[in-house]
Amino acid sequence: MSPLLRTSIAYTVFPSAQAAARALADDLSQRLRQRPELVLGLPTGNTPLGLYRELIERQRAGQLSFARASCFPLDEYLDLPAADPRSFAAWLRQEFLQHVDFAPERIHRLDSTLDANQWRQAAQRYEALIQAAGGIDCMLLGIGRNGHIAFNEPGSARNSRTREVELEATTLHDAAKSFGGLEHVPRRAITMGIGTILESRTIRVLAFGTNKAAIVRQILCSEPQAAWPATWLAGHPDVHCLLDPASAADLPG
Ligand code: PGA
Repeated sequence: MSPLLRTSIAYTVFPSAQAAARALADDLSQRLRQRPELVLGLPTGNTPLGLYRELIERQRAGQLSFARASCFPLDEYLDLPAADPRSFAAWLRQEFLQHVDFAPERIHRLDSTLDANQWRQAAQRYEALIQAAGGIDCMLLGIGRNGHIAFNEPGSARNSRTREVELEATTLHDAAKSFGGLEHVPRRAITMGIGTILESRTIRVLAFGTNKAAIVRQILCSEPQAAWPATWLAGHPDVHCLLDPASAADLPG
């Protein structure tokens, strides 16, 4: 007999990653129509690319507008020069933000140049900006192969806030290609905390592909615990995971 799924994280397996991205783009379009001032938490990585393309197409077709919306990126590498093209801010601009109509003053960012004395103040400022925007309406997340959400690495507490973190070996390894080698990947980052993420009104998690199958099973079948930070999402009143058949392949049938 298959072990029971113990999680309270709801999930849907879509026929493909593209179908999942389309469904989430439909959902966000509707939310933007109902509330043009929508406040979004935005991830970086391969996973959200399909969603961003869908949203760009819809904006070009005049089906949605971000003109009154705000966005908060989830995380950022530290120890990168300002405007480094490998920063998450640059990546988000290139892959999504420059193609849609957010007002520049409502695109928030974490600074990749903060030193050890500056990040605390910057983190507090970021949390205050989120509060001033009315909190995050819709938090979009990927999952790292080690179970991280944003850069909340294994060991992250449920009540953690925006802070500096040391990146863990799996994360460094997965970033090595985009930095041209492991030795060039920044070791430090700044990330929204688990507590910050859990205060969002709605959370949507995307996980696609066979390389996410093991972690998806772990997250959906484990009790909430710091060893697998995404398990902290269980118990949030409005969290949903969007999977494709490959990432769902190891779930008990
Ligand atoms: P990925 O990264 O979308 O590139 O797989 C996800 C993550 O590390 O959060």
